[in-house]
Amino acid sequence: MAASSSSSLSSVVMVVLLLWLAALASAQLSPTFYSRSCPRALATIKAAVTAAVAQEPRMGASLLRLHFHDCFVQGCDASVLLNDTATFTGEQTAFPNVGSIRGFAVVDNIKARVEAVCPRTVSCADILAVAARDSVVALGGPSWRVLLGRRDSTTASLSQANSDLPAPSLNLTGISGLVGAFANKSLSQTDLVALSGAHTIGLSQCQNFRAHIYNDTNINSGFAAQRRANCPAAAGNGDSNLAPLDAATPTAFDNAYYRNLVSRRGLLHSDQELFNGGATDRLVRTYASNPSSFNRDFAAAMIKMGNISPLTGSQGQIRVACSKVN
Ligand code: HEM
Ligand SMILES: *[C@@H]1O[C@H](CO)[C@@H](O)[C@H](O)[C@H]1NC(C)=O
Ligand SMILES: *[C@@H]1O[C@H](CO)[C@@H](O)[C@H](O)[C@H]1NC(C)=O
Ligand SMILES: *[C@@H]1O[C@H](CO)[C@@H](O)[C@H](O)[C@H]1NC(C)=O
Ligand SMILES: *[C@@H]1O[C@H](CO)[C@@H](O)[C@H](O)[C@H]1NC(C)=O
Repeated sequence: MAASSSSSLSSVVMVVLLLWLAALASAQLSPTFYSRSCPRALATIKAAVTAAVAQEPRMGASLLRLHFHDCFVQGCDASVLLNDTATFTGEQTAFPNVGSIRGFAVVDNIKARVEAVCPRTVSCADILAVAARDSVVALGGPSWRVLLGRRDSTTASLSQANSDLPAPSLNLTGISGLVGAFANKSLSQTDLVALSGAHTIGLSQCQNFRAHIYNDTNINSGFAAQRRANCPAAAGNGDSNLAPLDAATPTAFDNAYYRNLVSRRGLLHSDQELFNGGATDRLVRTYASNPSSFNRDFAAAMIKMGNISPLTGSQGQIRVACSKVN
């Protein structure tokens, strides 16, 4: 009896300690981190993002996704931006990334402009976080105060990019399902549903939705037929043919994604899993009918995602060029 109550006491102490450490790690990020060291940082990033999105609306989607793919692998440390070299293997050839993530030239351009106003001051990881927010705003979505002060890694992890970035074939629950992949990053089921709303913009390749439009049953038949027309059944044919993740309003950051799910027009299997008779159906209906509740939860979840294991203080470095370590 005494032993079990003292061990439960020590586990309570342990949990409190871990929560405190976690709070301490994210408390080091602050929305005013650059207000003295680089007061023009945020305006410089915003101007470049706004111009890039005006030129090509899809770029807003690509920049938002880069931040996600950064944060889920080693935390938000710009590891995704590091190029492979003869002696360094980065994350860009991981299955979820290769031939798919884009926007590197825009990030390099933003970094060059920021270096011109404040040399060696603003991290690439923070640039990704701010560019994600500015992209959402440029396409009509909600805004939020981005927490800043992340530093850049000198390492990357191909294996973690392959294991931790969720695949579009995932089910909602079960061992290695979507809920588990997000829980692994301290993100809740609500965060999963809200963040998936990023698929209100951008495009997907046929190879990522082929199985869904040919073999799944939880899909509107007219929609499936439409998508099959430009995505042949046989693997290897039309693999990279593109379709909008949200065909209703492909370049507007709105809640149409959730209305699509309710009418069984989710493009990816993983999208439609959020409305497939399970625990997340209710929240999908809420977001489908209540855009302000989606906007609020999306902004809160982006801040949580941006807090995943940042390097702070004297950890890592401020890269001069985002695609290589100094
Ligand atoms: C829930 C698990 C998720 C899965 C399984 C998933 C999977 C995918 C896949 C397969 C694509 C298409 C890639 C291609 O065909 O080249 C895609 C695109 C995209 N994803 Fe996700 N994603 C998820 C969550 C997220 C999150 C959390 C965000 C951001 C907050 C996000 C943002 C995007 C965007 C904006 C695009 C379009 C990119 C573009 O057009 O360049 N996704 N995602
Ligand atoms: C990284 O790769 C991109 C595209 O492949 C290229 O444009 C860029 O110059 C590379 N960066 C460095 C530092 O080599
Ligand atoms: C998802 O669930 C289906 C049906 O229960 C199962 O056949 C399939 O293997 C699961 N997919 C994954 C990726 O776990
Ligand atoms: C959870 O994260 C760890 C560490 O990155 C990784 O090894 C593991 O594969 C992840 N598990 C899932 C279910 O994503
Ligand atoms: C659909 O399922 C069948 C039977 O499991 C499989 O042979 C086929 O490759 C699947 N088609 C696609 C496009 O995934």
